[in-house]
Amino acid sequence: MAAVTKPQILKSVLNGAKQFSTSTKSHTKVAVMGASGGIGQPLSLLLKQSPLVSQLNLYDIVHTLGVAADLSHINSKAKVTGFVGPDQLKSSLEGCEVVIIPAGVPRKPGMTRDDLFNINASIVRDLAVACAEVCPKALIGIIANPVNSTVPIASEVFKKAGVYDPNRIFGITTLDIVRANTFIAELKGLDPTTVNCPVIGGHAGITIIPLISQCMPGVSFPTDQLKALTERIQEAGTEVVKAKAGAGSATLSMAMAGARFAVSLIRALRGEQGVVECAYVRSDLTESKYFSTPILLGANGIEKNLGLGNLSDYEKQLVTASIPELKKNIKKGEEFVQKN
Ligand SMILES: NC(=O)c1ccc[n+]([C@@H]2O[C@H](COP(=O)([O-])OP(=O)(O)OC[C@H]3O[C@@H](n4cnc5c(N)ncnc54)[C@H](O)[C@@H]3O)[C@@H](O)[C@H]2O)c1
Repeated sequence: MAAVTKPQILKSVLNGAKQFSTSTKSHTKVAVMGASGGIGQPLSLLLKQSPLVSQLNLYDIVHTLGVAADLSHINSKAKVTGFVGPDQLKSSLEGCEVVIIPAGVPRKPGMTRDDLFNINASIVRDLAVACAEVCPKALIGIIANPVNSTVPIASEVFKKAGVYDPNRIFGITTLDIVRANTFIAELKGLDPTTVNCPVIGGHAGITIIPLISQCMPGVSFPTDQLKALTERIQEAGTEVVKAKAGAGSATLSMAMAGARFAVSLIRALRGEQGVVECAYVRSDLTESKYFSTPILLGANGIEKNLGLGNLSDYEKQLVTASIPELKKNIKKGEEFVQKN
């Protein structure tokens, strides 16, 4: 396959941002697991708006029948069906090609994403068990935190079931890219829709690594401003958690980012060429078994991992610092599935 150039990547990502457009060629069945939540509801609304979705299955342990009835009155193509409670879990996944998982508790002020592990690990495990049985070939996008551990959890579940394909399981880190683009645009007076800054690594604190040296269009900052910007991107989720003061974490911006990623998966699934998104996936590019990098998406999930590219010395240091934390998060997820 021909190498994918930076302008191609940018074009693709920008197309991703303009995803709620007019194509009518496809009919994809999508499930949202945790569809009644703060992310699940606006994410389902955005997916209902997408002409690429023909069937939208909404699963949660509460309230999905109401959410589905409400969304079903919108005059867009997707048919919406609500599924509620564990008895309806498997039927919610039947025939699904894309499954997006925002189910799980969000942070409160003072909490790290890892503090969510005890509750969310079993939620993601149980949903992954059902996916592995009912729709093992689906492309799975995991939003539930801690993403650094929930992706290894889902992967271990799929391995145990004998249906693991590392190309089909993604941790959704798109919000980190969306935030980086916004903050860079603010500082440089740019149109935020034209900025694309890759963010690699993982999705928590120091594992979030914005590659500002690879930003398109090219930007540069004095050292102290670069450091402050990097730290703001790393801690942007906490900014929202603090502002919401106990009412949860990012939901609306995450719904936008989750819908962008889901639609990118669908576009690639339907044969569109050149669809690129950063995502946290199984990877052998660093010492960390899972690592987020720009990914060329295809009909079977990961078509090609586009790698880390050329890093500045500062970015190299950030990658080095992230590896022990990522390894710890990954081990915790893997051990959870082995023990439970
Ligand atoms: N990846 C990211 O960038 C990112 C960004 C923001 C939030 N998050 C994470 O997304 C998750 C959801 O956040 P939220 O604000 O929507 O939380 P929320 O509490 O508003 O919603 C979670 C939903 O999950 C449902 N749920 C709980 N257990 C379930 C189960 N076993 N099966 C199906 N559904 C179940 C709940 O009923 C609820 O409707 C959290 O873990 C949060 O940390 C990730």
